[in-house]
Amino acid sequence: MSHYLPLSRVARLVGQPRSEIQRLIHAGSLSTFDGMVDMNELLRVFPDIRWEDDGEFRRVQEIKEKAFGKRVYERALPDKEVLAERLFELGKEFAAAKTLLLHYHEVLSFMGDKLNDVADTGGVATLDAVTGLKQWLKRELNAAPKEAERAEALLAQESVMRIMSAQVTIQPSGHEFFVEGNDTLLEAALRAGIPLNYGCSNGNCGECKARLVSGQVKKVHPHDFVIREPDKANGAFLLCSYTAITDVVIEARVYGANDIPEQGITTKVKAVEMLGNGIAALHLTAPRSQRLRFLAGQHVTLSVDDAEGEYYVASCPCEDRHIEVHVRRDNRGFSRRIFDNPRKETPVRLEGPHGEFVMKLDSRRPVLFIAWEDGFAPIKSLIQHAMSLEIAEAMYLYWAADDVGHYQDNLCRAWADALDDFVYQPMQIASGAKAVAEAILAHHPDLQRVDIYAAGPSDFLDALYRGALLHGLSELGWHGEVI
Ligand code: FES
Repeated sequence: MSHYLPLSRVARLVGQPRSEIQRLIHAGSLSTFDGMVDMNELLRVFPDIRWEDDGEFRRVQEIKEKAFGKRVYERALPDKEVLAERLFELGKEFAAAKTLLLHYHEVLSFMGDKLNDVADTGGVATLDAVTGLKQWLKRELNAAPKEAERAEALLAQESVMRIMSAQVTIQPSGHEFFVEGNDTLLEAALRAGIPLNYGCSNGNCGECKARLVSGQVKKVHPHDFVIREPDKANGAFLLCSYTAITDVVIEARVYGANDIPEQGITTKVKAVEMLGNGIAALHLTAPRSQRLRFLAGQHVTLSVDDAEGEYYVASCPCEDRHIEVHVRRDNRGFSRRIFDNPRKETPVRLEGPHGEFVMKLDSRRPVLFIAWEDGFAPIKSLIQHAMSLEIAEAMYLYWAADDVGHYQDNLCRAWADALDDFVYQPMQIASGAKAVAEAILAHHPDLQRVDIYAAGPSDFLDALYRGALLHGLSELGWHGEVI
């Protein structure tokens, strides 16, 4: 009997990004049925993986977690009740499989009796044929199934995964993510960088209402918002109050840059991190009840007292309440205020988000991220978003800097070390915008199947855009932001 696995779980089992699994499917190397992978097919395509030894996979995960600093280990275990329900669901599946086996056993014994009857009443030829058939059956039943050991280990590992996390598929967008630890569906989606529609995040506004298409969810936080009975009967529930017990399919709205309402939030300074060469990373914390809804690549207006400035968010929307912006030392009021008086807990008013320099979520092509000086801020956010969604086949980061320096060079190198499909190339800007653009494009003679996200001054973007078109870039693949 076949056992089918969803793509995201397959990716986790083999320790590869989902985009790599998709690449194998598109290349015809891995076949699927209804978007699922047969366990035997998985064993065939990955003959070298020892499922019982997932040390390497765990190591990569750990490096990734350290590099992004976004997952806290205590969050890994589900709540006791959720754990009990997941075990119960798995127990039901094992019980059904065992019942089926007992049934097969009975059918086989019945068939054995019938064969004996046929042998008793037939001639010598019939007796020979029946004896041959019975011997063959015995041999086949006693033989270990093909790749039994690896298949058992794979099933065991998959069962543990299903106890620890549930997979969620969103319709109609097709996004997938895992719910882990004590997370609600909303928290898990945001952590995965998927911009679902929501408002208060504590059960009052009803903005996060979704519909359960299949699977089981469980309420983990009470909510005051009242869902109408007909909606309830149709599967409506609140993403901020429920978690997933089994793998689920839900119908929910994923928003784009223009759907996010302007928000006004009073954040607090968590830290001001001096990064050298006149750049500071300002870390802000949003209130628990009023997180900032934004997409990677957008910017916000910040103000302290009378001083105001517009800054790109450098952190990922998946980082919960943490907001990071990069402030350049200059004569403007906000910058002076941050550099002269970097006090913790200072209230900073935030209005936004603004801008449409955001990730195209439906593209799976390789991506070139290109930053000029502190144009790195939106690029950093976009890269982390792309990583958490695992949407790009491969990522290249070119960062041209001089005055401000490559002020988060270590982070970029950590990404390149942790991910097989990530290339980081720091560059100097001394040769000028045109020469830097040409040097980058020289690495990519064919840009037909590529997306470019570039942030920098207009002369640099112009040179890059013109050159990229000559290398075959489609106009739809170009995303430039003048900084
Ligand atoms: S976000 Fe307001 S009820 Fe869920």
